[in-house]
Order: sequence, then C-alpha cells, then structure tokens
Amino acid sequence: MKKIVTKSVLFVCLGNICRSPLAEAALRAEAARRGLEIEVDSAGTSDWHIGKAPDPRAQAVALRNGVDISSYGARQVCAADFTRFDHIIALDTNNYADLEALRPDDATAELSLLLDHVPGRAGQPVADPYYGDDAGFDITWAEVTEGAKGLAELISR
Ligand code: 4NP
Repeated sequence: MKKIVTKSVLFVCLGNICRSPLAEAALRAEAARRGLEIEVDSAGTSDWHIGKAPDPRAQAVALRNGVDISSYGARQVCAADFTRFDHIIALDTNNYADLEALRPDDATAELSLLLDHVPGRAGQPVADPYYGDDAGFDITWAEVTEGAKGLAELISR
C-alpha cells in the first residue's frame, strides 16, 4: 500500500527569485515521482522582490527540466512560518543565520541547510547564481535536485 506522508517544507534564500523557487520546484517534482504528499513553499529573507515571478534564468532552467515556475510569486519569510512548517530549509549559511535570528521562542519547525540532506555536503551552501551566467543556474538546479532527493528520503523514512 502506498504510504501517505503529509509534511510541510519551506525553502528560504535571499531574494526568493532564484534558488528557493528552484528548490520548491525540485521537491514538488520529486514528491510527485515518489507519490509523497508534501506541502512545499519558498520565501526570501529580504523584501526586495515581493510579488515578483522568479528570475527569467531560473524560469528557463526549470523549464529545461520540465517544470513551469512562471506562476510562483516571491514573498518574505515571517515568524509565523516557524510554526506553520515542519521543515525550514536555508539555501546558504547567511540565510541560515538570518533565520536563526528570526526564529521565535515557540518555533516548532526544524531548521537545516539544504545540502545537509546530501551525503558528503553537510554544511555547504548552494551558491547564489544571481550575479553569474546561465551555467550557474544549471549548477543550482543540480544542487537543489540532490537536496530534494535527500529531503524526500528523510520525509518518507
Ligand atoms: P536568490 O538570488 O536569493 O537565490 O533569490 C538573489 C536574487 C536577488 C538578489 C540577490 C540574490 N538581489 O540582489 O536582488
């Protein structure tokens, strides 16, 4: 019988227009492949891009990998997210530090770095592709896909 697991995961980067929407897309795809029920969302630590769609380069790399993220809209992470989600996953160490500072006393969410869920890569950041070229976004996609696989494993365990 198929195991139904309902967990919720929030990915957080700086702008919520490059890395965390790609992580959101990758985990949605991985959950669908495995038949897992996971509630997935993403947010930014900054308020710079609230309401905007993902960066065109992020949309393009997602499409190249079969996922349309054009309807995603950026939002800023907030204290309530720490009780709403089971897991809050930071894309890099700055995001992690910002989230620790925001974490309220009654937080129930487990905070980790995305690559903590990839064997041999614990503690490592997903590099910010924003100031780079398209090739950087392919690396981001590969990294968030690995992270999504590890997370899906953790959740289905
Ligand atoms: P993200 O990338 O945190 O992966 O969404 C960035 C997006 C925007 C900026 C920096 C990083 N920015 O400086 O506007």
